[in-house]
Amino acid sequence: MSILVTGGAGYIGAHVVRLLQERGEDVVVVDDLSTGRADRVGDATLVELDVADGEAQQVLERVLTERAVTGVIHFAARKQVGESVERPAWYYQQNINGLANVVAAMGGAGVDRMIFSSSAAVYGMPDVDIVTEDTRPEPINPYGETKLVGEWLIADAERAFGLRAASLRYFNVAGAGSADLGDPAILNLIPMVFDRLERGQRPTIFGDDYPTPDGTCVRDYIHVQDLAQAHLSALDYLETDDRAASVFNVGTGTGASVKDVIDEIGRASGLDVTPDIAERRAGDPPRLVAAADRIEQVLGWRAQHGLPEIVRSAWEAWQAGPRRIG
Ligand code: UFG
Repeated sequence: MSILVTGGAGYIGAHVVRLLQERGEDVVVVDDLSTGRADRVGDATLVELDVADGEAQQVLERVLTERAVTGVIHFAARKQVGESVERPAWYYQQNINGLANVVAAMGGAGVDRMIFSSSAAVYGMPDVDIVTEDTRPEPINPYGETKLVGEWLIADAERAFGLRAASLRYFNVAGAGSADLGDPAILNLIPMVFDRLERGQRPTIFGDDYPTPDGTCVRDYIHVQDLAQAHLSALDYLETDDRAASVFNVGTGTGASVKDVIDEIGRASGLDVTPDIAERRAGDPPRLVAAADRIEQVLGWRAQHGLPEIVRSAWEAWQAGPRRIG
């Protein structure tokens, strides 16, 4: 019996793979290694495959059957908002075809437990202080659309062949569970600030005239180790027959501003973090903070780490490298 993790060589996937291994699970990773790294998966079997490929369904079905897989955690997907705006068709090909191949293979092999990596990007620009799972999803870019469509496909498969699924809507994931598992990409606030500091430049704040307490955007930062733990809680929950919900926010319920994060980076690094203020970046909601009540009530999960631990662990991993894998 084993768990299949698509995208298990990536930043978040590798944290989940390690947790599964620590609790004694047999793990099979499927990853095309386009952004993932083979050295992150420990002694898990690694099947090198792009899940969006034409042949992927057959390959996946064979792996599911041969390895007696009992549950699938599906991370493999593209996740850059800007890139999705430039290449919408490719995002749909990658994220939707990939998911459809995984779901079809599960149906064929009779595997019925699935965790899907969704995103707070499904909410778009909500005009509420705290978003609950019932806040109307209105994605504002192709990336967010592929996540919402993915949730719909999964709900359809739950009705069609008894798939048991949980879609986890991640808020702003950061930090590292250990120094060798840091986020190698420089695409989000914390690594972007580290990168500038390392070059001897000042951090940049994209807009300080938002309607927030200090004028900078507020987000719900979630430690990647807590997020990984949420996947295990969700996987266990899928074994119960009486399931109250299948979509969960994964956040802390607490917001931090861009300024808060940069100040925390100053404390962790000991460096001068005086920022430059730049123009607003297109498409940034002023505030995106999760209501985290459902996941606590239903899965019994809540975040254990706050912003200082997120930033400190990210800084340690940054110094350990390697990085700059887009
Ligand atoms: N920011 C700066 N300076 C920087 C980098 C970022 O001021 O150098 C600001 C951004 O403008 C934003 C905030 O920091 O206000 C957070 O930006 P990130 O790029 O780290 O994260 P986002 O909230 O924009 O995006 C995240 C995920 C996406 C997801 C989105 C919506 O990275 O995948 O949340 O949930 F789509």
